[in-house]
Amino acid sequence: MRDNGYAAWLRYDQVTDEKLAEEYKSWTSELVLPPGVPAAGLLKTAAQELSRGIRSMLGTMPSVTHEASSQRVIVLDILGRGTWLDEAAGDAKALSGEGYVLRTVRDAEREYIIAAGRTEKGTLYAAFHVLRLLQSGASVDQLDLIESPTYGLRMINHWDNMDGSVERGYSGRSIFYEGNKVLSDSERIRDYARLMASVGINGIAINNVNVHREETFLITGKLLPDVARIAEVFGEYGIKLFLSVNYAGTIEIGGLTTADPLDPGVRDWWKEKAAEVYRYIPDFGGFLVKADSENRPGPFTYGRDHADGANMLAEALEPHGGLVLWRCFVYNCHQDWRDRSTDRARAAYDHFKPLDGRFKDNVILQIKNGPMDFQVREPVSPLFGAMEHTNQIMEFQIAQEYTGQQKDVCFLIPQWKEVLNFDTHVKGAGSTVKEIAAGHVHAYTHSGITAVSNIGNDGNWTGHHLAQANLYGYGRLIWNPELSSEEIAAEWAAQTFGGNQYVREVVISLLLESWSIYENYTAPLGVGWMVTPHYHYGPDVDGYEYSKWGTYHFADHKGIGVDRTVATGTGYSSQYTQPNAEVYDNLDACPDELLLFFHHVPYTHRLKSGKTVIQHIYDTHFAGVERVEYWIRRWQELEGLVDEERFRHVAGRMNHQLENAKQWRDIINTYFFRKSGIPDAHNRVIY
Ligand code: GCU
Repeated sequence: MRDNGYAAWLRYDQVTDEKLAEEYKSWTSELVLPPGVPAAGLLKTAAQELSRGIRSMLGTMPSVTHEASSQRVIVLDILGRGTWLDEAAGDAKALSGEGYVLRTVRDAEREYIIAAGRTEKGTLYAAFHVLRLLQSGASVDQLDLIESPTYGLRMINHWDNMDGSVERGYSGRSIFYEGNKVLSDSERIRDYARLMASVGINGIAINNVNVHREETFLITGKLLPDVARIAEVFGEYGIKLFLSVNYAGTIEIGGLTTADPLDPGVRDWWKEKAAEVYRYIPDFGGFLVKADSENRPGPFTYGRDHADGANMLAEALEPHGGLVLWRCFVYNCHQDWRDRSTDRARAAYDHFKPLDGRFKDNVILQIKNGPMDFQVREPVSPLFGAMEHTNQIMEFQIAQEYTGQQKDVCFLIPQWKEVLNFDTHVKGAGSTVKEIAAGHVHAYTHSGITAVSNIGNDGNWTGHHLAQANLYGYGRLIWNPELSSEEIAAEWAAQTFGGNQYVREVVISLLLESWSIYENYTAPLGVGWMVTPHYHYGPDVDGYEYSKWGTYHFADHKGIGVDRTVATGTGYSSQYTQPNAEVYDNLDACPDELLLFFHHVPYTHRLKSGKTVIQHIYDTHFAGVERVEYWIRRWQELEGLVDEERFRHVAGRMNHQLENAKQWRDIINTYFFRKSGIPDAHNRVIY
């Protein structure tokens, strides 16, 4: 069978286990909707999605009714309407607006699976949950589940440009634009919305944070009719559309001479723009803004700060209920290597912390998970939780810009879990990032999680088939951060690779080890940045070391690492709350994996593992390659068990990964052998 992976985890393969198929059929002949359901709406979508999945998995088409008549039925409804459901659904008090109940109940006449949310959106998520169970071969005879998303905003950011290119895109071109036009193929966009809703995503920004000339017009009558069509498709799946805007829009397209946020003309222009956007898209989400960052315009030009800039847009969106997502990726991108006081890691905290309390309620600061830029290993940004009176949202990157670009396997859920579980201590022990992002530590009005998308118009959406697991896992993790990496990988593998136990085991184990393998053969011990400049794939140890876009590791013949301590370095470590500040600042306490992020040490420095830094570098780089070789062998065992197209595709990518890993190993090992003059204790080949 040919299979390009387009269906991703919504494959709905036929259920071949006869007993299971019988059980499922007994439940799925009838879907009961409440009376008066409008022709368009999320309940309708829920019924359509269930019908589609059931037909594909079981070969039967359920009838959609308003009054139960079969022995067993699925009820798609909304709680709190004062019907029998409220009682039958059990204790659903804890349900948030987007949560749902999945429960099997019986009365004298028949049996019901109640799939009901507090709102229509919750019911849609419940329907997708039923489909997930059916696809995974789980029994639905005794359901008793209450699900509520931990985060209110569960977003995706696209870095798509209107010329059809995708900034940091590794899976083809944009699904939204081509040739400076908005694409009309809404089928692909609909399938994307289905995938996203199935894992609970409820907001998507559809253009790059770097807003160039054409994209500046997205908020004008020229393009809004097209944007509104996309918003409508997303709306059918409970997803709000957001747009990235050009901070200097007033100058670029508004005919004004300034973008000063305190200028009344500028403020009026944005108010009119916001009103216009809402005329086309009544449930529009809001604006995403990259200002004063990597040469993009911003309020600094006018001697104003980021609170002034963000509040100006917030004021315009406020009457319509819109949000401003204001990014904190603000730093001096031309650091001079002689200047040891400037530190990109410090920048977000230094810029934003003093502004705490000055932002309007509908502003949310969007903070990258690490203080640098999506490296394979970074500490958690100290800005999380540091602003008690300012809403914040976390930004992850599903696109693997620095983690293998969807050519190498790198399952990022374990990394994101470490970030979410990090205890900031801002309000004592237990102030974890996941609690802060949920608004449980400080009483934020809005909070949540967002991430840069990894999809494009490739047949399988994500370039590497296995990179689909990051997209799926992202949605699942931010619905429920208590899910383990293993659980998420297992769910994804079951739905994507079907019933063969052995295939699932191999896929799950490969995914779970992949981040550590990638870390092993690339930049060591948290130092990052040894990638080819601008392109960011493949090794170039000194690429950024001698570039004006400086992000340094300071390796010389004596040692390596960035001194970010208080006594002798940039003082970055002091941005953390105790005890983290002390742990990072203290050479003996600092965890090995972040050692070179915080300290400059000689190559002979001994790690907690007992190895010297130089021997650690050699060992991990040899091991990384060996593990890729091992996984290539394991994957080969799946020949004939996975459909041929996907089998070959993954095998091809893994061979490519091996070449990449070898190149990293050899370049890194040779570089540090020559710098340090210290040979490998095991005498392996170093060029
Ligand atoms: C990284 C990335 C850029 C992107 C930027 C951002 O630096 O390489 O392409 O524009 O992040 O997040 O704004």
